[in-house]
Amino acid sequence: MSNFKTIDDLDVAGKRVLVRADLNVPMRDGEVTDTTRIDRTVPTVRELSEKGAKVIVICHFGRPKGRVVPEMTLKPVAAALGQALGRDVAFAADCIGAQASSVIDAMADGDVAMLENLRYHAGETGNDPAFAASLAALGDLYVNDAFSCAHRAHASTEAIARILPAAAGRLMQAELDALSGALDDPDRPVCAVVGGAKVSTKLDVLGNLTKKVDVLVIGGGMANTFLHAKGVDVGNSLCERDMAETARAIMAGAEANKCEIVLPIDGVVAREFKENAANETVAIDAVPSDSMILDAGSETVKAVNEKLASCKTVVWNGPMGAFEIAPFDRATNAVAREAARLTREGRMVSVAGGGDTVAALAHAGAERDFTYISTAGGAFLEWLEGKTLPGVAVLGV
Ligand code: 3PG
Ligand code: MG
Repeated sequence: MSNFKTIDDLDVAGKRVLVRADLNVPMRDGEVTDTTRIDRTVPTVRELSEKGAKVIVICHFGRPKGRVVPEMTLKPVAAALGQALGRDVAFAADCIGAQASSVIDAMADGDVAMLENLRYHAGETGNDPAFAASLAALGDLYVNDAFSCAHRAHASTEAIARILPAAAGRLMQAELDALSGALDDPDRPVCAVVGGAKVSTKLDVLGNLTKKVDVLVIGGGMANTFLHAKGVDVGNSLCERDMAETARAIMAGAEANKCEIVLPIDGVVAREFKENAANETVAIDAVPSDSMILDAGSETVKAVNEKLASCKTVVWNGPMGAFEIAPFDRATNAVAREAARLTREGRMVSVAGGGDTVAALAHAGAERDFTYISTAGGAFLEWLEGKTLPGVAVLGV
């Protein structure tokens, strides 16, 4: 299915290979607090090193806006990568110029180095050809392993791939294969579960999905906007009342495309948004005017899980309720666990990604059984929107 080059197509022995990774990892007090993104890119780095390449990892951290912001140094990330690899990772205090080339000149075949934050230079986010050329001068080959940055047309994700022979790393390859398997050429029926607080942030996602999937489950706060648009009184719930017309247009589009939209039929309501707030489960047309829906109810969970069981593929983005505060995590947990069970039994392909999603699935203890969980936030959403991702397009996909 892949129509892009991978590491298999490159002869890397003895070559300087620039690897664009996304190591924009969570940090506190100069320490990496979650190594997921590091761990996921290790196979690419290790394979290249074992094949005798000089592996030069390039990445960004935070948004320093083209200036040197010392707190945004990648130095601790280089140390964490070294730990994950079980070997030394050299570090260059600048990603271009003399400091970078002297570190690279000292590398032996199989060595690994990391260069300082790309975004210390404005040319990075500006996709500046001159900056891209300075980066490209440091390598012979370019490998992009940063799907989660592929929605950015930046020098290290876009312009550089026009200069050096370019290929996808193993993580990029896995992301593209999993994602295109789930939406471009999936086993049907396909179900999408989309949750989260606001319709307004996921309009294009919902619009695109109604054209691609057979069942669209809408959960979380955004379901309230759809319920309101259908004339349901959602009481004091989070609801974008000015989006009612848009919600109706999405529902009409779904109907035209024979995509079934599944909305909550009951809800867990409370008077305050806080952990263990007094709550009750009510039918969706019986929400008290002073209460908010904080989770989908058990009848909804039952209906959604029945739908899931009839589908062969699920694409998941966003929680079904306020999963961060107990007990309003129940619907998210129950539906996530059902998708995990169906996947474990070989009855379903499940792909998830985007922002809160990974945290919600991990909270449910479901993430290990999903077929694929993307490391991407914004890039996953833009892919769900059906957009062309510049960092992917330039690889020839
Ligand atoms: C991310 O963490 O989502 C990626 O690294 C992209 O970062 P950005 O949103 O600052 O471009
Ligand atoms: Mg982001």
